[in-house]
Formats: sequence, C-alpha cells, structure tokens
Amino acid sequence: MADRILVTTDDLEHAVRINAALEAAGFDTAMVSSFDDVRQAVRGRGLPPDCIILSGGLHETPAEHLLASAHDHAISTLGLVEPTEADPKDLARELGLTAWLVKPVDPQDALTTTRRLIDRRKLQQRTGILGEAAPIQEVLVKIEQMAPVTSTVIIEGESGTGKELVAKAIHDLSPRRGKPFIAVNCAAIPDTLLESELFGHEKGAFTGAAERRLGRFELADAGSIFLDEVGDMPPATQVKVLRVLEDRTFFRVGGIQPIKVDVRVITATNRSLKDAVALGQFRDDLFYRLNVLAIYLPPLRERRSDIPLLVRRFIAEFAAQHDRKFKGITPEALQILVDADWPGNIRQLRNLIESMVVLAPEGEIRAADIPRDIRERGGGRGAGLPVLVPSTGRDVAGQEVQFILRSLVELKLQIEELRRRVEDRPAQRVEVIEVGGGAQGRLGSPSDLLDAEPGPEGPVIYRAGMTMADVERAAIEAALKETRGNRRKAAEVLGIGERTLYRKLKEYQLA
Ligand SMILES: Nc1ncnc2c1ncn2[C@@H]1O[C@H](COP(=O)(O)OP(=O)(O)OP(=O)(O)O)[C@@H](O)[C@H]1O
Ligand SMILES: [Mg+2]
Repeated sequence: MADRILVTTDDLEHAVRINAALEAAGFDTAMVSSFDDVRQAVRGRGLPPDCIILSGGLHETPAEHLLASAHDHAISTLGLVEPTEADPKDLARELGLTAWLVKPVDPQDALTTTRRLIDRRKLQQRTGILGEAAPIQEVLVKIEQMAPVTSTVIIEGESGTGKELVAKAIHDLSPRRGKPFIAVNCAAIPDTLLESELFGHEKGAFTGAAERRLGRFELADAGSIFLDEVGDMPPATQVKVLRVLEDRTFFRVGGIQPIKVDVRVITATNRSLKDAVALGQFRDDLFYRLNVLAIYLPPLRERRSDIPLLVRRFIAEFAAQHDRKFKGITPEALQILVDADWPGNIRQLRNLIESMVVLAPEGEIRAADIPRDIRERGGGRGAGLPVLVPSTGRDVAGQEVQFILRSLVELKLQIEELRRRVEDRPAQRVEVIEVGGGAQGRLGSPSDLLDAEPGPEGPVIYRAGMTMADVERAAIEAALKETRGNRRKAAEVLGIGERTLYRKLKEYQLA
C-alpha cells in the first residue's frame, strides 16, 4: 500500500508542485487546508497519513493546531520555512516539526526528505522506539548511522530511558541481525562471578565448576554483546574486557587456549563514565575504547511533548493486552501526566499506564485515577527521585517508606528552589534556608505534601549533616525491611528499576 502524504495549501504554488512530484513518485497524496485537523483530514479514508507537509503559515494558529495533532498521532511533519526566518532550526524545534526546508523548495528535495521521514517512521515501527521530539529523532538518526558498522557503541541515559531498547535496535538493524544478541547486566552479577559469566570457565577451574561452560562473549560470536551498567564492572574484569576489545581474544577462566570471537560490543550506563574515570573507578583506556560512538538518551522530563503520544500508545497497547474496552484519557488527566517529573522515565510511565488501564473503573483514565504523588507534583518542578506506589494506608512500614521518600522529594524541591534563586538573581544576597535540624530532625513541609507520619520507632528521616546519599540509603533499608528483603518488591516500592537497586545496594554496601 502506498504511503499517505498530506500537503497543506497555505502556499498554493509550493503545495501544487510538491503534490505533483509526490504523486509521480507513487505516493498516495492529498492537499488539505491547515485548518483541517488530522482526524478531519483522514475522515472517510480511515487511515492516518504517514507524513504531513506544511507549505506555509507556520507561525499561525491553524498550523500550530495541525502540528500538535500530528505530533500526538506520531505523524511526521515537514515544514517549508520562509527565507526571512532568522533561525529555521530553532523554529522547527519550537514548533515540533520533524524536518524543515527553506523556500524556495525544489519538489525533488521535498520528495527526498519525505522519503527519509517515512523510512524513519518505519524504523520506529520496527524498533518500538516512540517519540517525535527532536532528541529522539536525533537518536534515530544515530541508530541508522551506527547500525551498519561494527564499532563499539556506548548508550548513556537515566534509568528507564530506553537504553536496552536502543541497543537491541542497533543490533536488529545491523548486518548481525539473526545472530545472537546477548545482554549482560554487570551490576546484577556478583563481581566474583562476572568474569566466568563473560568469558566462561573450564571444568574444574574453581570449586563448583563441574563442567566447561561457555561465556557470554563466546555465545555472542558473530552477533552483539550488550554490556549493561558497564560502569559497575570491577577493575579486574575491566582489564580483560579491554583485551577483548583490542584483539578480540580471551581465555576462559582456568583455560590456556586463547579464544577468538567476532563480537560487536554495545554498552550502556546510567551514570557518567567520564565521572567514573575522573573518580578513578573506571579505567580511562577502557573508557576511550568504549566511547567510540555515543548515544545519549534524554530523560522524559526534557521531552514532555512526547508524553501525550506515549500515553495514547501505551493505553492502546495495554487495553488490547488485557482485553479491556478503554475510551482513553481525559484532557485534565493527560495534562497531569505531561507535567509530572517521571524520575523513572518511560518505564515508570508505561507501568503506571498499565496499572491504570487495569484499574480505572470507568474505562477511562481520569485525574482521580492518577496516584496522588504524581498529581501533586508536576509543573516540571524538581524531583529526580522515585515516585511512590500508593500506600494501603494501614501498613505502618509502608507509610514510613512513603514518608522518607516524600521527604526526599521535598528536600530536592527546596534545594532546586534555592539553586533557581541563586541563578535568577546572582547579584543579590541569597537567604539560606536551613533544612531540618529541629528536635526530631523533621523536614519543613511548605506544600503539605506529607500525610503519613512516621511511628515513634520510625527510621531516621533527615538530620542536619546527613547527605542525600545517607537519606537514600535509609530509604532503601526501610524498603527492604518492609518487603522482608525481597529486592524485586523493594525496587517496586521505591519506584526504581531492580538493576538500579542492585547497583545502589552495592554502592551503599548493603548487598
Ligand atoms: N522511546 C521509547 N518508546 C517506547 N517505549 C520505550 C521507549 N523508551 C523506553 N521504552 C520502554 O520503557 C521500558 C524501559 O526501557 P529500557 O529497559 O530500554 O530502559 P533502560 O534505559 O535500559 O533502563 P535501566 O537503566 O533501568 O536498565 C521498556 O518497557 C521499553 O520498552
Ligand atoms: Mg537497561
């Protein structure tokens, strides 16, 4: 079936010529007015277009509405910009255009760009990577460029931003697709086991090595190995991985025969490896070896314009999966989700939508269905900290965890407020608000976010002199206590990934 393109008629001359070129190239095209909403434009034909070309009027309200609607339906847009426009790139970013061309536009250039956008859309369908915002479009371009070669790739980004999804996409688009993609989470495997996990071991290499076992590098031969949380790799293993990267050979633990493999290495980390190098925790020679091609995945709060699109897709996905008739989401509820902070990024949004699709009583997500923690924050203010699972209300330990986490959120908000004040008025004196230090060391709570009081025997919440790390450690301990040491549940309660929890357990020596 031919790809569908709509061309707006604001600049009729451009529209007619481009429409003709697209038609000649075999596209299913139609000319529409900017006043046409996407839904209106496809009425009667049933299918949404693959791309919309806005021939002019970009600064006007109808074009803005059309763009917003296209954005929410994951439809690519190409804007034709007037030559008088001072900064077309900036304008495109502001309006959320997927691509732009400066007038006068040669219809053949419009055709080439449209083809590229449609290929990108197909790439998104194939990889499951959703997002229209410029940073995600840049990530897709990088994936396209990096997939065909064998150079090492490093993917950086906070937890839940899609690092594994991107790693898999690179493999699936590379000539190595069809060959193994082997993922290893360096943070989840104890240091003592990581080496034999990666390189395998010979029979009798150590107590318990009853059989020869192939390592992940060997299993990934001809394919790709994904070293997740690579920053957590212990120094001894770093040396060995460096050697594999240098000459593609290694020894099984206890082995004397060098083993040669042809493996593409893709790594990911949710902390800056550069900082780890500066702190002496990561070898700089390995860092340079890994840092050949780099992809950075921005946190969701830095690309809020993608939230409506993600929400709609996840609702459709989970409604189908759970066989629920689901109407969608009210505008008010959607706005709350757009404004929330999403410290757990797309994973957190996705999990929340799944639970709401299952639990929302009216077959529609309304504001009241959104957990209070998410409803009460928002506006992009602050907190890179876990969002909480709603408390059952009776469970005291759960309330304590909630209390600690809410306090963390408050503390973070206050610190950010202070920083903002300093940045806004650098020349003025800044009043320093002292946080905590009261009789019980409790935080002040200006926005009255705290509704759960800790019991008299409750854990330490915050005392003057405690660092963020101390508070985080206390939160993790409390969560583990509440879940009786069940790490999966503890991670869930804390609103972080299990792997992140493992990393933190190690970091705070709680493992
Ligand atoms: N751009 C995206 N479009 C659609 N789904 C996404 C996107 N990015 C992430 N996801 C989904 O979010 C969840 C988390 O993604 P993923 O596991 O790749 O994150 P991660 O960065 O590896 O997280 P962590 O650091 O915690 O391991 C997955 O269910 C994934 O499918
Ligand atoms: Mg991951």
